[in-house]
Amino acid sequence: ARKFFVGGNWKMNGTKKEIDEIVAFLKAGPLDPNVEVVVGVPAIYLPYTKSILPSTIATSAQNCYKVPKGAFTGEISPAMLVDNQIPWVIIGHSERRNVFGESDELTAEKVAHALEGGVKVIACIGEKLEEREAGKTEEVVYRQTKAIADKIKSWDNVVLAYEPVWAIGTGKTATPQQAQEVHDQLRAWLAKNVSPAVSESLRIIYGGSVTAGNAKELAKEKDIDGFLVGGASLKPDFVQIVNAKQ
Ligand code: 13P
Repeated sequence: ARKFFVGGNWKMNGTKKEIDEIVAFLKAGPLDPNVEVVVGVPAIYLPYTKSILPSTIATSAQNCYKVPKGAFTGEISPAMLVDNQIPWVIIGHSERRNVFGESDELTAEKVAHALEGGVKVIACIGEKLEEREAGKTEEVVYRQTKAIADKIKSWDNVVLAYEPVWAIGTGKTATPQQAQEVHDQLRAWLAKNVSPAVSESLRIIYGGSVTAGNAKELAKEKDIDGFLVGGASLKPDFVQIVNAKQ
């Protein structure tokens, strides 16, 4: 069985004081012990957050580069994450792709390098509104997934996050049926193009306006193995989202 996975993506939010408040509600929980919980923290706050979080909650960077070190001003590497005992990184978030212009190719190179360096990856994919309206959802998510599949040797340390761009930060959540349909299509694609074993074991999580109000219905779908939560991960509602399977 796939362990339910809930990631909080704080994006570019948080002060030390706000992080203290988030950690306080995470500690108070209670969080379902059967759920893997990870928080995606701005790089500068990763060591601080890790130092105050309970060891049952893991930390994740929100991005990293594709080489270990060198003349890449402003970037951090998987080697630096490992040096700080940060086990996870989010790669290919739609904001990286669409605000910062990161391509499928670069995203895939980053995923491969992070995995080679020993950092686990939350790899994000998802279509834009105009792509969905043009009937291109499958084509887009397969293209994004294939770029990654072509560059990595193993999916063991990957969680795939399906985040339709039109649902991110918009309050427009995909319906459970819409999300389930894409997750099911992705599993079929993986079975055919990677392996039946990966299709069966890979956790595919949903992101895009997940709230305490809609998480339970989404969590009932058989191919939704958890969530990547933006705005609601900054609020005590996150505890209810972690516990959505209960
Ligand atoms: P929201 O939950 O704020 O829509 O953000 C989703 C997201 O982008 C998580 O990575």
